[in-house]
Amino acid sequence: MRTAFTELAGIRVPVMQGGMSGVAGAPLVTAVSEAGGLGTLGSAVFAGDERALAAEIDAVRSGTARPFAVNVPLFVPDMAWWLIERLAGLGVGIVETAGRSPAPFLDALHDAGMLVVHKATRVRDVASGARAGADAVCLLGAEAAGHPGPDQVSSLVQARLAAGALGVPWLVGGGIADGAGLVAALALGADGVLLGTRFAATREASAHPAVKDRLVAAAANDTLVVLGTVGDHARVLATDRAVRLSRAEAAGAAAAELHDLYGDHLFRAVVAGGDLEAGVLACGQAVGLVDDLPTVAELMDRMVSEARAAAARVATSVGEGSGEGEFPCCFG
Ligand SMILES: Cc1cc2nc3c(=O)[nH]c(=O)nc-3n(C[C@H](O)[C@H](O)[C@H](O)COP(=O)(O)O)c2cc1C
Repeated sequence: MRTAFTELAGIRVPVMQGGMSGVAGAPLVTAVSEAGGLGTLGSAVFAGDERALAAEIDAVRSGTARPFAVNVPLFVPDMAWWLIERLAGLGVGIVETAGRSPAPFLDALHDAGMLVVHKATRVRDVASGARAGADAVCLLGAEAAGHPGPDQVSSLVQARLAAGALGVPWLVGGGIADGAGLVAALALGADGVLLGTRFAATREASAHPAVKDRLVAAAANDTLVVLGTVGDHARVLATDRAVRLSRAEAAGAAAAELHDLYGDHLFRAVVAGGDLEAGVLACGQAVGLVDDLPTVAELMDRMVSEARAAAARVATSVGEGSGEGEFPCCFG
């Protein structure tokens, strides 16, 4: 598979795994990159601990010689600068930035030789990231886990709004979990996809087995958007705790109470301990498409064959030679 994004990043399959706190450690990142995609190390958990960060990046490098990325959350600038300096020293080649405009950080990232994939939730934000100099961007729709943004516009609509308007290779994320989703994104004009939730339910993800089992069991409507009243929309798994948080929010609870219920923003207690009531857990609507726990290699192989089958199906439906007479079987 070849797109502007695979060419830019030096990968074989246009699938990026988004950085995930606590979940995307060296085993997941290595497996995604080895399978031809672009793995992304979640780095916020290492902020302030230079030795642990360097050890994790060493672990990725000892598992794969292929390109990988590191997530750099920009919403706390001091933490972002700390990470950028360390990643530059460690020779990291690609970063996934998110959380605010990358503009103030781009010179430093580029001077250190890093490619920047900037992730945001509104077309205007990815467009301004691209204009500021991001090398690629990722547009997240409302379906996405984590912070899907205030506007809550679906990936389908966002991708069409973005197509042709960005001028750099771009990905769409949010709600994608298989090869048909990948082909849909390419058809909409994107150069690839970014997946989080689907990769959290793989053998290599660093999450407690109880968390993975819950992801397999969850349906597409088992997520909630919380913290919207404090301007920090977060899509999370609809656990009892998340439902309590949502009700408290509807009842007008103060921000401090809401953040208390939310718990650790890096999901450490939930992911490591497997106690789904110890905090909330980022989770996207794509969880409804997750019904097994494959290895990353199995998942990526499956995605590629599903993509080929989906592309062939579409070609049969709309390609040359499908005369009007054949349309009823496709559309009706
Ligand atoms: C458990 C979990 C933790 C996440 N942590 C982060 C994070 O630390 N930084 C970040 O930019 N995105 C984070 N995300 C979001 C993903 O990188 C990605 O943008 C999102 O999952 C894509 O949507 P999808 O889940 O529908 O595939 C997280 C997602 C999950 C499921």
